[in-house]
Amino acid sequence: MKVGILGFGTVGSGTYRMLQENREAIERNAGVSIEVVKIGIRDAAKPRDVAAELFTTDLDSIVRDPAVEVILELIGGIDPAEKLVRQALANGKNVVTANKELMAKCGSDLVSIAREKGLDMHYEAAVGGGIPLVQPLKHQLAGNDVLRMMGILNGTTNFILTKMSQEGADFADVLAEAQALGYAEADPTNDVDGFDTMYKISILASIAFGHQVPVDCVYREGIREISAADMHFAEMLGYAIKLLGVCELLPDGQLLVRVHPTLLPKDHPLAAVNGVYNALWLHGDFVGDVMFSGRGAGANPTASAVMGDLIDIGRNLKIKGPGSAIPYSGPKPTAPIDCLESRYYLRVKSQDRPMGLGQLATCFGQSDVSIAAMEMRQLEDGIAEIVFLTHRSQESSVRDAIVQIESMGKGDSVQTCIRVEGDGTL
Ligand SMILES: NC(=O)c1ccc[n+]([C@@H]2O[C@H](COP(=O)([O-])OP(=O)(O)OC[C@H]3O[C@@H](n4cnc5c(N)ncnc54)[C@H](OP(=O)(O)O)[C@@H]3O)[C@@H](O)[C@H]2O)c1
Repeated sequence: MKVGILGFGTVGSGTYRMLQENREAIERNAGVSIEVVKIGIRDAAKPRDVAAELFTTDLDSIVRDPAVEVILELIGGIDPAEKLVRQALANGKNVVTANKELMAKCGSDLVSIAREKGLDMHYEAAVGGGIPLVQPLKHQLAGNDVLRMMGILNGTTNFILTKMSQEGADFADVLAEAQALGYAEADPTNDVDGFDTMYKISILASIAFGHQVPVDCVYREGIREISAADMHFAEMLGYAIKLLGVCELLPDGQLLVRVHPTLLPKDHPLAAVNGVYNALWLHGDFVGDVMFSGRGAGANPTASAVMGDLIDIGRNLKIKGPGSAIPYSGPKPTAPIDCLESRYYLRVKSQDRPMGLGQLATCFGQSDVSIAAMEMRQLEDGIAEIVFLTHRSQESSVRDAIVQIESMGKGDSVQTCIRVEGDGTL
């Protein structure tokens, strides 16, 4: 099997190294010998510890090469990855990609093209790094109606939230530490503002629910607003705070797909997934609860996922089978976040005054939001911090309560509003 690799950074070089180190097992499992014929890169001057003649900056020549049967797209982003993958498919080449942005934005189209041409289009590494998620959803779990799926899909934010919780530190300090350790990019937007998780939950939702879930139908919030105070109160109330991608089927048949910080009871399996680890928990109608966890990024785990896809293609080429790309159906109706019914955590900074608590309670009551638990601490002279945990309420009602609290004219403000999951309701 002749392979062209596009991109030789963390994942490309890790995949190449895995092939060298584990060649015997890989080829035995694939049933074919594997030869990397060309590797495309951008900067020809970068030192690489692989024979120089393998490299080219002319990536078009790799996807045009008639000898190449499989393209590993390990560049990332949309341009030039999309164009190269489309050319590769048009030229009859099977494709493996680790590119979540590409799959979230163009996956439905790319998979359909592969299907029409009888090719394979695999993307296990695009979600959850080394954790097998895509193939189990497409195969072993495919007979289930998935009712709900929740994932910790970004290692950077999970590292930051874990550190904040363990050390009582604030977001900005832990972000700086994560950047120094190389766990967060200099520009952390993609991770901390939830874009990376949005791409991944959109891909997983599209597979699990069999319909394309466009990224612009995914509600998204990041973790910048989470403070040491929220970690303190969550701990007191028996919860962990995680950035989750959540997808659920509403009773009216619409999908609600969202990314936001979430309070999870400490005894929920996802609450124990710490540091850079990722995990996906789902509930299927026959299988019940299932959880997958492991390393969501890094050269070795991601190479492991790319290699699994490559082995699959090798087996398929050996039996001269048709490609196994499974296309998504068209888009499914998705519900806006206002349709969410959930429990909520709200942290309010309040001016001490007679009847203050009663006035806050009135705002909740008038908005049809009932309170399940409350914690309070005095901050400084005249200011108190009060945390409310609600019973299940409509998102729109909670928004209404926040407007009422902040428009009382008493100087009260809602510092954070975090949704609560994992309370046993599906
Ligand atoms: N890193 C992870 O842990 C991880 C985990 C899961 C999935 N992924 C995904 O895997 C993909 C690759 O990520 P990575 O971390 O390996 O990226 P990376 O380290 O930045 O490597 C990117 C590679 O692509 C090449 N490249 C970039 N732009 C190019 C262009 N315009 N023309 C030609 N070559 C170009 C670079 O060439 P030079 O070497 O010449 O700069 C480099 O070899 C991404 O889609 C990413 O989301 C990564």
